[in-house]
This record gives sequence, structure tokens and C-alpha cells, in this order.
Amino acid sequence: MRPDLELVRAERMVSGGAALCRDAGGEVILVEGALPGETVAAAVDRSRRGVRRGHVVEVTDTVPERVAPPCPAVARGCGGCRWQHAGTDAQVRYKAGIVADALVRIGGFAPGSPTVEALAPLPALGARTTLRLAIETGRGGFRRHRSHGVVAVDACPVAHPLLDDLIASTDFGSAREATLRCGARTGERMVVAAPDAVDVVAPPDVVVVGDDEVDAGAAAWIHEEVAGRRWRISAASFFQARPDGAEALVDAVAAASLDVRTGSAALLDAYCGVGLFGGALAGVGRVVGVEANPAAAADAAVNLVAVDASVVCADVAAWAPTEVDLVVADPARSGLGRDAAGVVAGTGATVVVLVSCDAAACARDARLLADQGYTLESVTLVDLFPHTPHVEVVSRLVAWQR
Ligand SMILES: C[S@@+](CC[C@H](N)C(=O)[O-])C[C@H]1O[C@@H](n2cnc3c(N)ncnc32)[C@H](O)[C@@H]1O
Repeated sequence: MRPDLELVRAERMVSGGAALCRDAGGEVILVEGALPGETVAAAVDRSRRGVRRGHVVEVTDTVPERVAPPCPAVARGCGGCRWQHAGTDAQVRYKAGIVADALVRIGGFAPGSPTVEALAPLPALGARTTLRLAIETGRGGFRRHRSHGVVAVDACPVAHPLLDDLIASTDFGSAREATLRCGARTGERMVVAAPDAVDVVAPPDVVVVGDDEVDAGAAAWIHEEVAGRRWRISAASFFQARPDGAEALVDAVAAASLDVRTGSAALLDAYCGVGLFGGALAGVGRVVGVEANPAAAADAAVNLVAVDASVVCADVAAWAPTEVDLVVADPARSGLGRDAAGVVAGTGATVVVLVSCDAAACARDARLLADQGYTLESVTLVDLFPHTPHVEVVSRLVAWQR
């Protein structure tokens, strides 16, 4: 082994995607590319705030979970999908472990109460309907991991074929970044280029818009069909990255709120985006959607027109809570935080379903709600992003102090 490398053994995957490894002296190194149970020779790249980080140079003792990455761009350094070296079933187990660990270490919950259940994996390839590309000399690609360098690609195996085609057939001109979106079930496509789209040349069916125009309020959107409904999605609005994933989330939220959806129940869809949960959950009488992004709130108002719904464009943390039976709260990666958790609890809801896209935020928010009188009853992992360490978690909390 090269003298500059360290021989370490991987114990478990951690949030962010590296493996927690220990050297012979028991010291921790977070190593990219290692899998639990493996012994690897790792190069230490950097040390920050006492945490050493490195990457695998050679696997000296492997595990059956290791597979050959399905995408050839991985060998060229593409940082888009960093878990392609693990089988998809193993990825789901690792993610459930990361969430369980966060609930104990960050949330202060007892181990296994509750256990983290994982839904069956969604197809890993050909499904993503949103992609963020880095652009270099008119071509799309993905950033190298922990680098500003770009690995140009002509195809992306995780992308829906409608986007895969866009990567190859679009000249992104002088743009520096581009977000590609499609409606898998409507065939509609969009390119949002940053900082502008002045010299972007895309196939004629594609809505092309610049970030500068979006910031100035340009009306640019596509539609998608999810849960039997049609959704308007504006360029500036969030939407789940794949329609089958959006449906899996809706199903998980529906299962976690079955007992309170009586037909006359009032629902707060907090961080409602374009109105996904408020519009797709059957068996609620009245919906209040709260969303801070004006474009998304406008989409939600259109998408929920056939529902007894009101959409408020506001910061959830600053919204004056009204009484509801059920809250579905799906905040951004930073989570609810103390103020918004207070608003959620202030609704007096019997059931809160928390949708989290970060394990640490999930644990923090579940603890904040537990401290406000809610019992954490179930935690379900929905793997919307196979081949990446990204998690989506649906937690059910039930009021006990009312
Ligand atoms: C993860 S997305 C969820 C959207 C929607 N629930 C869905 O599944 O499509 C989070 C949403 O919260 C909105 N948001 C972020 N911070 C907010 C805040 N402080 N108050 C209200 N909405 C916020 C974002 O604009 C985004 O639409």
C-alpha cells in the first residue's frame, strides 16, 4: 500500500453520503466510496473542525453490496449520483440507518422507537423529471464531487428519456447553469437557464426561459399528472423530482393520516408548493395551503381550484395558526425550526405528518414537535433519489396532551 494512504474499516454510512471509517487506532475518517464492512485504503483529502475526510483509492476487502456503477460518467468523476457503487436494496438500508441514527443522536429518541420502515425501491433509472446541469461551453454536465469542475455528459441514465434527449439536443450557449424539467405524463418540457437564456437553442417544443426573466415574473410553466390530477408547475416552483415518487409520497402521507381524514376534516398543507398534498389527499373537507414562493402559491391556487381550498402566500413561521385536524408539513431541507414547529402545534391538529428531505432536520423537527405534545408514531423512508444519499422521510406524530 502507498505510504500516503490509510487502511481503514467502514462501519456505517452517514448523512451526506460518506462512510464512517476507523483506522487501526480507532480514529474516525469519513471516506467517500467505501461501504459498511469494507476495508479500504483511503487518501485523506482534508481535515476540518477535527473531522478527517478522504476517498477510497483501493478496496482491499469488499462486501456483496458493492456493484459496478451503471453509469459510465462515474468513472470520469461525475458527482451527480454518488452511491452508484452500492446495490439499490443496500442503498435503501443505508438510508434507513442514517435516519434511525439521526433520530437517536439528534432527536434524542430511544433506539427503535419507532423503527424506520422503508418502502420498496422505485426504479433507479429513467425516472428523474428535474435535473440541474452545470454548463461549460454550451454543453451540459454535472459537477465533480466537491469541485467546481464539470463532467460534460451526452446522456444521464437516471433522467427521464424526455430530459435525456434534451441534454443531447440543446445548445446551452453562454448559460452557466440550467434546470431541465419535463412532465413525464404530459410530454411538456422546460429549460430554465442561468443567468439568462439569450443564446440557448432547444428543440421547438421546449419552453425556454432565463433566470432573469423568472425573477422578473415571467409566466413560464409545464404541467405534470400525478395522483390522477393535472398540476401546473411554474419555472420558479418546486415540484417533486419524479411523478412516481410524488405518488409514493402522497400514498405514504395518506397512510399516515388515514384515521383523521374523515371527509369533513380541515387540513393545513404547510409548505404546499404547487398544492400537491392538499390536492391529492382524498377525504379532507377544507384545505389551507401556506407557501412562501409567490409563483408556487399562484400555481397552487390554480391547481386547487376544484378543492375547497385557500392558499396563503406566507412564511409558515410567521403565519397565525388556525384550528385544523391534520397538518402535512413538507419544509425545505433546513426543516421547520422552532418557530414553524410552534405554528404547526398551534393549529391543535390531532395528527401531524412531517415530510423531511434531510435526516438531521427530520430528527430535529420530530423532537421539537415531541416537546410540544406529539408522539412520534411512525417513520417511513421513501427513496425518491436512488444512487444518491438523498433521503425523503414521512413521519406521523399524534397529539397526546390536548
Ligand atoms: C420541499 S418543497 C414541498 C412542496 C410541496 N409540498 C410538494 O410536495 O410539492 C418545500 C416548499 O416550501 C416552500 N418554502 C420554503 N420556505 C418556506 C417558508 N418559510 N414558508 C412557507 N413556504 C416555504 C418552498 O418554496 C417549497 O415550495
